[in-house]
Parts: sequence; C-alpha cells; structure tokens
Amino acid sequence: MRRATAFAPATVSNVAVGFDILGFPVESVGDFVTVSIIEEPEVRVAEVVDLTGTLEESDIPADPARNTATVGLLKLREDLRLGYGFEVGLRKGIAVGSGMGGSAASAVAALTAANALLERPLTKETLFEYALLCEQASSGTAHPDNAAPCIFGGFTLIASMKPFRRVRLPVPEGVVVVLVRPRCRVETRRARGMLKAEVPLASHVRQSALLAGFVAGCYTNDLELVRQSFRDVLIEPQRAPLIPAFTEVRAAALEEGAIGASISGSGPAVFAWTTSNETAERVRAAMVSAFDEHGRVQADSWVSPVGAEGAKVVE
Ligand code: HSE
Repeated sequence: MRRATAFAPATVSNVAVGFDILGFPVESVGDFVTVSIIEEPEVRVAEVVDLTGTLEESDIPADPARNTATVGLLKLREDLRLGYGFEVGLRKGIAVGSGMGGSAASAVAALTAANALLERPLTKETLFEYALLCEQASSGTAHPDNAAPCIFGGFTLIASMKPFRRVRLPVPEGVVVVLVRPRCRVETRRARGMLKAEVPLASHVRQSALLAGFVAGCYTNDLELVRQSFRDVLIEPQRAPLIPAFTEVRAAALEEGAIGASISGSGPAVFAWTTSNETAERVRAAMVSAFDEHGRVQADSWVSPVGAEGAKVVE
C-alpha cells in the first residue's frame, strides 16, 4: 500500500484589517492527514483521531461528499480519471468551529498528502483550487484567506481571485503572534450569514485607510503605523457578541503591550501581535485569564511567529 502523511497549519484569517483577503499560518498547531491508495475506486474516511478533546460525533461527516478532508479528493480523482481510490486518516489538531482555519487545514493536508502519491504531482496553485471547493462545502463560501496561507505559507494577501494573484507581505521585525481559543464554538456559516451586506461609505473609507496603513507599515517596518492601523471597524463589531468577553480579552491584550488584537477568522479564537517573546507570554496569560474571569470559559493558547511555511508532507 502506498501512503503519505501531510501536516497543514492552523491559520489566522482577516487579520483585523483585511476581511476575506489576508491570512497567515501559525506554527505548532494544525491537522495531520494520512492518505493511502486503495484499489476500490472511491474516497473513504477510515479513521478520525481528535487531538483537541472537543470533537463531537457529528463534526466529521462520514459522507465523503460532505467531509472537508475528502471533498477535494473526490473532485481530484474525477478530474484526473484515477483508476484507484483514496483512504483518509485524519488527526484533528484544530478544534471545529474555532476560527483557526480547521476546515482549510484538513482539506489542504489531505490534498498535499494525495498529491505526493500522484505520478505527476499538481502545482500548489491547482491544489488551492481544490481546497476552495472544501471551503465552499464547509462554510457556504469559497473564501480564500485560510486556504491560501495554509498552502503557500507566509503573511498572504489575496490581491485577486480571477486571475488568482497572491502577494507574500513582509512581517515587521520581531512580531510574535498570540492565539487564544476559548472552548466554545462559532459556526463560520452563521458568522458570515449575520454580516450586513452593505457598509456605510464612511466606514469603507476608514477601513480602506486602515488596511493601506497596515500594509504600508509592514513594508516599511513601521510598527507604530501597524499599531495605529490595527483595527476592524466593519466586521469585528458585528461578530464580537458571538465571543464571550471579547471586549475584555482584546483590552487585556492591549494593556499587556500587544500592538493589536482582533478576532481570528470568524472566531471565537482571538489573536494578537506583539513585538517580543516576553510580551507575548504576558499577553497570552492576560487573554486566557480575561476569558476565564469575564467570559467564564477556559481557553487554549499558542505563541508563534507568523508561519513562513505552508502545508508539507511529513511521512
Ligand atoms: N474570512 C472568513 C470569515 C474566514 O471571516 O468569514 C473564516 O475562517
């Protein structure tokens, strides 16, 4: 039997200023998928291992047409007219409904592992197209801001979808990320469905200036400009009520010296950027205790650089 295992990292998307167009990977947390070639012309899930302690039975659909790890493989098999099938074993390191890009990671890890088994491997750009099908199946929209950084790595701007154009943005020197996930869930589909379809012109102008200032600050290594620009006036106010004690958690991060903090993806995870490991550890502790004290919810947390690498074959 031929098999390969791939790791795909968790990702922080939106990054406060760029709804649906910015994202980056976080090191040390992600999903592992093992794909084996089987004789039967089908795609099936053989095993699901929960590394988070939060998975419920209904979370991972047995039907491969609804499972984010297998939707892309089904289409890939069909497109390439493969005479064999795939069996998938999933080790979920990212909790479902966490806002940490779990559906993208499962999809990307499965595609990366399967790609390693192909006679003529596909490009990452092509794998990205398949990963978007999984995002569509899981959240109802093929949003690219988790799948792109998950595959390509680095602080990623999706400048255009048709044609696909991504830019790897520079990360200001010394930035250390804090990611904190309260043990509760927000369903991306719902968190998207609740957003107002239109934004007032003044808010659009304000957010455009913040996005431009943030990106300019990254290019010029101007941490003060990044700090001043680290705001989401469009999406965060609408979604904050979904997250227990979001206001207090964000305030705790800023009080301990974070240069900014916001919702990771559609939440409930919250991330912060800091400028040293020491500050990151203080910010992490303050955010976890704010979730506990004000939100009455326990939280898991990670400290990491902005991940330079995307998914990779590990076995
Ligand atoms: N940009 C997407 C959203 C990310 O905020 O809905 C979901 O993980």
